[in-house]
Amino acid sequence: MLGPVILAASRSDRIRRLVSAAPVTKQVVDRFIPGETVDDIVPIVADLTGKGLDLTMDVVGEDITTPEQSTIARDAYLALVDHIKDLDLGPRVEMSVKLTMFGQTLPGGHELALANVRPVVEAAAAIGTTVTLDAEDHTTLDSMFAIHEELRKDFPQTGCVIQAYLFRTEADARRLAASGSRVRLVKGAYKEPAEVAYQDKHEIDKAYVRILRTLMDGDGYPMVGSHDPRLISIAQELARTAGRKLDEYEFQMLYGIRSDEHLRLAAEGHRMRVYTAYGTDWYGYFMRRLAEKPANLRFFARSMLSR
Ligand code: FDA
Repeated sequence: MLGPVILAASRSDRIRRLVSAAPVTKQVVDRFIPGETVDDIVPIVADLTGKGLDLTMDVVGEDITTPEQSTIARDAYLALVDHIKDLDLGPRVEMSVKLTMFGQTLPGGHELALANVRPVVEAAAAIGTTVTLDAEDHTTLDSMFAIHEELRKDFPQTGCVIQAYLFRTEADARRLAASGSRVRLVKGAYKEPAEVAYQDKHEIDKAYVRILRTLMDGDGYPMVGSHDPRLISIAQELARTAGRKLDEYEFQMLYGIRSDEHLRLAAEGHRMRVYTAYGTDWYGYFMRRLAEKPANLRFFARSMLSR
C-alpha cells in the first residue's frame, strides 16, 4: 500500500525539499548511493571488481528542465569514462543512463537526448565497454526504444531495459530477442496506471518468467535484473534449458541490496553485475528504493525520529 504513495512523493518538489534537508537523510542514502563524486566512486569500483563483481555505473539524475542540463549529464558520464579508463576493466564496468537526464521529455528532447548520449556510447566503446538505456515511466519508452535502435546501428552492444509489469513488454521482448540485443529485464519501479501495467505482484512475477523465457530462448544477451530469490533460481533453470553457458547471460542487482547474494552468485561462477549509482541528484532513485521495501521507509522514519 505504501509503495504507490512513496512513488507519487518521488515526483513532488515539496517533499523532495523536505527529505533532502532532513539531517539524517544522507546516512540512509549512503546505503544505496555510495558516493557523490567520480573521485568517491573509483575506489568502490576497484573494491567491487576486486571481489569478482562487475558493475554498471549510474550517475543519478532524471527529468531535467533545461537543455543545458543535458550537456552537464553528458559531461558527467564522459568524466566517469575518463576516470575508469586507467583501471583497464573493459566490459566489466559498463554504464546505465536515464534518457530523461539527457532531456528526453523536453520539447525536441528525443533528438537532444540522442545527440548527447551518443558521445557517451562512443567513449564507452573506445574503452571496450558499453551503455545500457534504463527504462523509465511508460510514456518515455517508444522514444527510448527508437534511440536504442539508432545507437545499435553503430554500437550493436548497446543495451536496454524492459519492465515485466507493462503489458507491452512481452511484444518488446520478442522483438529485442530476435534482434540479438543485450536486454536487462526488471519488474519495474514506477507508478503506472492499470491501463498499461499489472498491479498485482503475483501477475508481475508470472509475466517476468514468461518474458525471461523469451529472452533466454532468443538470440540476445539476457541480463536478469532482480533480487527475488525465486526468480533467480527460475532464471538459472531457464538458462540451463535454453542451453546457455554461464557467460551467455548475467545477473544484475542494485548496490546495497542483498550484497551477500552478489558474492554468492559470483562465487558460483555467474557473471554478477552491481548497478552502482552515485552523484548528488539522488532523490528519485532513493525514493524508488524506499518504495520497493516498506521496511526501508520504516528504517528511514525511525532514524528521523531518533534524532
Ligand atoms: P522484489 O521487489 O520482489 O524484491 C525481492 C527481494 O529483494 C525483497 O524481498 C528484498 O529482500 C529485496 N529487495 C528488493 N528491493 C529492495 C530494496 N529497495 N531495499 C531492500 N531490499 C530490497 N526499474 C525500472 O523501472 N527501470 C530500470 O531501468 C531499472 N533498472 C534496474 C537495474 C537493476 C540492476 C535492478 C536490480 C533493478 C532495476 N530496476 C529498474 C528496479 C526494478 O524494477 C525493481 O523495482 C527492483 O529490482 C525490485 O524488484 P525485485 O525484482 O528485486 O523483486
